[in-house]
Amino acid sequence: MPEPAAPGAALVPLPDLDADGRAAFTHDGREYAVFTLDGQVVVTDGACPHKGGPLAEGLVKDGAVRCPWHWYTFDLVTGACRNAQAPALRRHEVLDVDGRPHARVVPPATVSLAERLRAHARGED
Ligand code: FES
Repeated sequence: MPEPAAPGAALVPLPDLDADGRAAFTHDGREYAVFTLDGQVVVTDGACPHKGGPLAEGLVKDGAVRCPWHWYTFDLVTGACRNAQAPALRRHEVLDVDGRPHARVVPPATVSLAERLRAHARGED
């Protein structure tokens, strides 16, 4: 079985996907969203990087998910926001463990207030 790669990382078995190839799950108090893009399973944070909207409920179109709260649109391949200045959507590696897909979920790094203020001054939030 592969080892978690980063401190705090965990291998989490993915739930069954719905008819649209989507799912959501919670691990260690955090939400995650699962999408299918061109036959590949993509796992992202479930909370939108903008203000925490529920991305698992977002519209998936043209390789991106649109948050239902303010319509920021995140590329599912790169995580980059396509239509606003926003932090990238965090993606999580998907790997096969004993024939079952798992996500290697990594908690976000703790960011100091000073780092958040600098990012805000750069227009990144
Ligand atoms: S919370 Fe997602 S776009 Fe604002």
